[in-house]
Parts: sequence; C-alpha cells; structure tokens
Amino acid sequence: MKQRIPRAARAPLCIRVPGDKSISHRAAILGAVANGLSRISGFSAAGDCRATLEVLTILGVSFSVEGDVLRIKGEGMEALAAPGTILDCSRSGTTMRLAAGLLAGRPFESHLTGHPQLLQRPMRRVAEPLRSMGAALHLTPEDTAPFTVRGGDLKGISYEPPIASAQVKSAVLLAGLQAGGITKVIERITTRDHTERLLRAMGAPINTAIGSGGIETSVRAGDLGPLDLTVPGDLSSASVLVAAALATGTDLRIQDVGLNATRCGFLRVLQRMGAELELHVQTELPEPQGDLVVRPGPLTATEVVAEEIPSLIDELPLLGVLATQAEGTTKVSGAAELRAKESDRIAGLVDGLCALGGEVQQLPDGFVVRGPTRLGSAVCDAREDHRLAMAFSVGGLVAEGTVRVVGLDYVDDSFPGLVASLAGFR
Ligand code: S3P
Repeated sequence: MKQRIPRAARAPLCIRVPGDKSISHRAAILGAVANGLSRISGFSAAGDCRATLEVLTILGVSFSVEGDVLRIKGEGMEALAAPGTILDCSRSGTTMRLAAGLLAGRPFESHLTGHPQLLQRPMRRVAEPLRSMGAALHLTPEDTAPFTVRGGDLKGISYEPPIASAQVKSAVLLAGLQAGGITKVIERITTRDHTERLLRAMGAPINTAIGSGGIETSVRAGDLGPLDLTVPGDLSSASVLVAAALATGTDLRIQDVGLNATRCGFLRVLQRMGAELELHVQTELPEPQGDLVVRPGPLTATEVVAEEIPSLIDELPLLGVLATQAEGTTKVSGAAELRAKESDRIAGLVDGLCALGGEVQQLPDGFVVRGPTRLGSAVCDAREDHRLAMAFSVGGLVAEGTVRVVGLDYVDDSFPGLVASLAGFR
C-alpha cells in the first residue's frame, strides 16, 4: 500500500459515480412495456445500456435521451413491434438474456446476435425455462447466440435456476408477466433483486416470500404503470473507487450510490478484511441508496465462499488486486461463473496479477492470492473485458512501476469516465 498522509491533513475525496447499469437496463425495458410515459434520470451512459436502447428502438419503442434523463413511452407489451432487422446486443449479456425473456411472450420471431465475445457465452440457462413456458428458442449447437426466439402462448412455471443468476431470474419474470397463471422463481442463493423492486414500484402483481427452498418470487400477467425513477450511482463502479481508495490510502465519500444489500457483498468482505466503511442509507425505495464512506487501513486476508458470490460477482477481480496487499492468504471459491463472463475472469485475473508480480493461483472455481506482495511494472491484458480493465487500473495505483492495461477502452461498457475518476487517487 502507498503511504498515507495523516487523515486530519486533508478533506476526504468526494465523488459521484454514473447511474447503475443493472437498474438502467431494467428501467428501460420495463418502461418500454408500461402504460404511459416513464421518466428515468441518472440513466447509465454505459455501452451495455446503449445496446438495450438500440434493441428497444428496433422493437418500435419511442424514447428520448437528454443528458442522463431517459423518457420512454410505453404502450403495453402488445405494442412491441416485430423487429424488421436482427437485434444486436453488442457485448451485453444482460441485454440479450432479458430481451429473450421479454420476447418469449410476443407473437413474432426475433433474431438476437452480438459482439463475438457475447456469442461465446452460455444461453441455455435462459432457453430452458423459456421453452418450458412455451416459447421456441433456437440456439447454436453450442447453446450460444446468435439465436431465434418465437414467442408463444406462455404458461406459468415454478423454476429453480441451477445457477444463481439475476439475468436468468429476470428473463423468467419478464416472460411471467405475459404468461397464464403464476410464474415462480425459487432462489437458494439470492441474486440482485432490481427487477422485482421496479416491478413492485410499477404496480405489477409480484410477491416475494421465503419458502423451504429459498426466496420465492411469483409474478402474474398484469399492466405496469409508468416509472418515475432516479437511478442511484452504480455500486459496481463505486467499488472500483473504493478499491482505489484502499490501495492508495485515500479517505473517500461516494454520494448517492446504490446500497442494495444483494449487491453489497464486496463491502461486507472488505469490512471482514479490516476496512473501515460506513454505509449511510438515505432512501430505501425503490432502491436503497445513500453515501458510502471509506477510511483506509491495513487489510487482512479472508475466504469468500459460494453463498456470498452473487453479491460480489462483478467485484471479484477488484478483490483479487486488493488481496495482493492484504496480510495472509485470500481464497475465493464457488465462483466458476467468473469463467462465463465477458472473458474467463479467473484466467485473465490470475495472468494479470502474475504479470504484476502477485503470488496468485487459479482454482477451477476461484483463485488464491498470497499477500502482501510488491507489485511492479507490467503489461496486463484485460481480454476485452471491462471488469478486468478496471481491476488492472487499480493494480496500476498499487504498483511501484508502470502498468499498461491493454483494452482499457472497454471500461466504457460499464463505467464511462473511470480514467478521469481514478486520476483523483494518484
Ligand atoms: C447482472 C447480473 C450478473 C452480473 C452482471 C449484471 C444483471 O450476471 O454479473 O454484470 O444486471 O442482472 P448473472 O446474472 O449472469 O450472474
């Protein structure tokens, strides 16, 4: 860790991050099928959310974007138009999987494709439940995109996803809004609940209960009212700055950031490692949000297990970088999903950390990092993956030499403006 100037000597760095990507995707999709005009401020400018807007344009949805305000005119599910062209989801898995759920109940055929990187990612996880509801999905022989969805007369199902995934849950709930009867998703490990929260705010017939198999979320067909929403700052983007603060010994306050408990796993793990963090929740509905205060100090190693993974899945590369500076051996397991993201994040992270001089090892479902180690000059390949690019950028703040991140531009997929925000930590 770099030497800190005593806290009293300077004011904390005060920062805001752009709107949450996961919430922005959902707000746009649900606003598009609501009845009325939705106003969504703080809409994310991330490349992934642009992909969602492009898809909605081709489905005949009218909207305008002025600054960070999205105004979207919904005329109900039935108003979605058969696409006259292929739906390009770019590099966004959330766009593709949520669109599959939305289109599963529409009486027309849609073709979905994306960037070559997205065409490597598993899609059977959404195809299986949507097929059992009555939609026809034709995937490649490898169960990937490009694929075709022909919407059918859907019937409700009770579904226990074999993989903890908010994208799969959301796809099934979007189809459930168009199905006869009740659609239920049962999660043994809770994943982010943004879809459920927005649906509730829009007056949808949705119910969440604790059952013997875990959290049960049920939905029926019903009309959605328009949304008037301010999207909180993206906690996954904020986490990059939290990691930067801990790496450089900077006192930090992040304002108006999302603090949804289903997303706070990274903060809980850091607290376990000894970080002093304060969460000041100011609003609870529809999404908890407030200020996050970071007071840096020494970190000790920890173990992260399967039950925790969905709550910090996107922050694990950052944890890998910080673990190089923590005293002891940090072990992450139960995180095989990392290999199915924009890149194989276990392999990419371990390669990058080794190049930096870290003592790191891959596990089939995670990684082990021994610390503390001095990091030096390196070229780190982000493998066209925004989360790896951001993690290696924090590696650059920790390292004593020069770090070049190959593929730094990919940070725009989720956090445009990251490089400028990190400049405050040097
Ligand atoms: C997301 C869910 C997570 C996460 C992704 C965004 C979402 O993916 O990794 O960045 O917005 O629902 P999975 O559902 O595949 O776990």
